[in-house]
Amino acid sequence: MRTSDPANAARDISPLSVSLSEEEGRLGEDAWIEVIRKMDEVYSDLLKYEVALEENNAALEEARRFAESVLSSMSDLLVVCDPEGIIEVVNPALLFLTGKTEVELIGSSLFALFADEATQQRARQTFARKASKASDCEMELTGADGQPIAVSFNCTPRHNPQGQLLGSVVTGRPLGELRRAYQALHDTHENLKRTQQQLLHSEKMASLGRLVAGVAHELNNPISFVLGNVHALRRYTERLGSYIALLHAAPSAAQQNEQRAALRIDRILEDMPSLIDGTVEGAERTRDIVDSLKRFSVLDREETGLFNLTDVVERSINWITKASPARFAVEVDLPEALRVNGSSGQIQQVVMNLIQNASDATLECTDPRLYINAEWTSATVTLRFRDTGPGIAAAHLPRIFEPFFTTKPVGRGTGLGLAISYGLVEKHGGLLEAGNAPEGGAVFTLRLPLAAATSST
Ligand SMILES: Nc1ncnc2c1ncn2[C@@H]1O[C@H](COP(=O)(O)OP(=O)(O)OP(=O)(O)O)[C@@H](O)[C@H]1O
Ligand SMILES: [Mg+2]
Repeated sequence: MRTSDPANAARDISPLSVSLSEEEGRLGEDAWIEVIRKMDEVYSDLLKYEVALEENNAALEEARRFAESVLSSMSDLLVVCDPEGIIEVVNPALLFLTGKTEVELIGSSLFALFADEATQQRARQTFARKASKASDCEMELTGADGQPIAVSFNCTPRHNPQGQLLGSVVTGRPLGELRRAYQALHDTHENLKRTQQQLLHSEKMASLGRLVAGVAHELNNPISFVLGNVHALRRYTERLGSYIALLHAAPSAAQQNEQRAALRIDRILEDMPSLIDGTVEGAERTRDIVDSLKRFSVLDREETGLFNLTDVVERSINWITKASPARFAVEVDLPEALRVNGSSGQIQQVVMNLIQNASDATLECTDPRLYINAEWTSATVTLRFRDTGPGIAAAHLPRIFEPFFTTKPVGRGTGLGLAISYGLVEKHGGLLEAGNAPEGGAVFTLRLPLAAATSST
């Protein structure tokens, strides 16, 4: 019986102490009280230990349940085995794949699960008594239906706190699943590439549309003077023909001279070289226009090489401003040569869009103007496009490179220009940035790597 009352304890022991002196009796009583106090302490400690033990037990049980739930929800295969490959723990994914029960597998050899003798041998070399990791080993297991299933295995050695090898943890993922995941990834990537290509294409169509106005104007001029020259040549041919016929009829020298003057043969001979030169020039200009059109519309966007960025800028200005030469002025201050490596067609698309945007932004300005200048080091060139338009609203600035972001009315802008330009510039290892100039108007900076030393003349 347990008591903490010293009086009771004294009562319990009093029959034993009748023969002792009073002093001895008091000492004995003190000793008993001390013993009982100690017992009390021990008992309360025991109680504490019991509570702690119960708490630990509950935590242990919780941890076991957690580990079990993790193991059973894993879709990858998991086997824990000893250094000889004897299975100690398996997860439900492995039971499902092999069609065996946990009782059958625990204590059996991991290697017996592999499809054939040669694979078992390989597995033994890869997993047994291995103190180092093995990863992505592709081997076949025998599936529940007896057919081999390709699995990609990883193996990690397991050690006790003293560093002694306890065995290994082997995980595996059936390759069918991996291949499916890879295929899905591949399909998504292909889709993305296709969409990007379509975006590029639609932007190209929009740029081509803008080009047509410039081209029509540009072609009109040389073609009209080629035509005028050819009409004159036709008239001259008639006159020369009559004169030659007369010569063949062998009239007198006086008659010949009279006809020569009447048909203005000397004037024709004088005029012919410049007529022919003019026609050749007109034809050459037409050929150049067609050439640059072809260059712009190359479908193979990957065609790359060394090109002069200054030429590209000038060509772009030409195309855009030809449609409305009087309205919009572009002031260019660029070195003669800025050698850049890449696709001139793509960079022309970027520059044309920047110029077109500036032209659109300055539609209602009193002095619609775009300034283009460059700063360069030996490695990079930064072109600055500053216009005299209203600039870009602060709320629009963060969205300006988003695909389909446009403030233009339907039919006037697709909102793809800057989004696509950004990607094209990035592809060239450069950077396209937008902002507003302190003096007003929008500023776009186009930074590109330079190919080699550039002349600054
Ligand atoms: N120079 C500029 N000044 C003011 N706003 C500009 C300027 N350049 C672009 N923006 C703004 O950025 C938007 C997006 O430009 P982006 O070139 O991407 O498309 P867009 O010109 O509207 O259409 P698209 O170029 O496809 O025909 C424009 O609608 C306009 O609001
Ligand atoms: Mg645009």
